Amino acid sequence: MKIAVSGKGGAGKSTVSAQLVRCFTLHKKPVFAVDADPDANLGLVLGLDPDKLDSLRPLVELQDVISAKNFGGGTLVDLNPDVDDVLENYTLQDGLLRFLKMGAIKQGGSACYCKENSFLNAVLTTMLLDRSEAVVLDMSAGIEHLTRGTARGIKMMLVVVEPTRAGVSTALAVDRLACDLEIEQVLFVGNKIRSDEDRAYLQASLPPERFAGMIAFSDQILERARLGQPLVSELGDLVPGLEKIYEQACRR
Ligand SMILES: Nc1ncnc2c1ncn2[C@@H]1O[C@H](COP(=O)(O)OP(=O)(O)OP(=O)(O)O)[C@@H](O)[C@H]1O
Ligand SMILES: [Mg+2]
Repeated sequence: MKIAVSGKGGAGKSTVSAQLVRCFTLHKKPVFAVDADPDANLGLVLGLDPDKLDSLRPLVELQDVISAKNFGGGTLVDLNPDVDDVLENYTLQDGLLRFLKMGAIKQGGSACYCKENSFLNAVLTTMLLDRSEAVVLDMSAGIEHLTRGTARGIKMMLVVVEPTRAGVSTALAVDRLACDLEIEQVLFVGNKIRSDEDRAYLQASLPPERFAGMIAFSDQILERARLGQPLVSELGDLVPGLEKIYEQACRR
């Protein structure tokens, strides 16, 4: 199962991504957890070792590897390099979980970043289309790492949305981007729900049949974030509602 998680800044993308990743490992399924948000914190929410996370290089910064995969440097770009070794050597492994950071995609300016972009694309294509492991991509609202090609591998995009007007408007914008990329299935996840009014607001603002689930506002989640504690561990601690979303994702 290949899942992308998107939504407005602060909506709860990393929280939902980390919980989904742990659902896979709790069910003894190997999974790639991909931090594809330039403002990344998925590793910490997953409870991975902060020192190891610090020393893990984002893929876009692997200049030595990127050159080697592109005929040893120069101007030629290999559009389809073999990157299986990258998934072994530049990921942080924790049991069944392999964690990797994409890094910020660079655009515009005077330099051409074709090599970096085609390298990231190759890594995503390999994970999404060639490998059998599950994948959870923690993305920004821009979903800029995805191309039409890699989007083909995504079986489900979850758009995390808080019950606010700004949250809904970003969710609709992400939905349009995902539609342009022809992503098969785009579902919403209501988050930080405090009341029936919150729930009703979201269901009135977005197509109700396209909700994968809703997650209540939780003091425990917020307290752990305040203390810098991981939200989930190998032992569990799943937020109510997440298991249901996971099951839906696996069923579809
Ligand atoms: N259901 C919830 N109840 C209470 N707090 C929550 C809930 N979900 C997320 N939070 C808190 O909201 C904050 C933002 O969540 P998170 O980091 O998952 O969002 P994000 O969309 O990944 O943010 P960013 O755009 O910064 O990457 C965090 O402090 C998190 O602990
Ligand atoms: Mg995040």
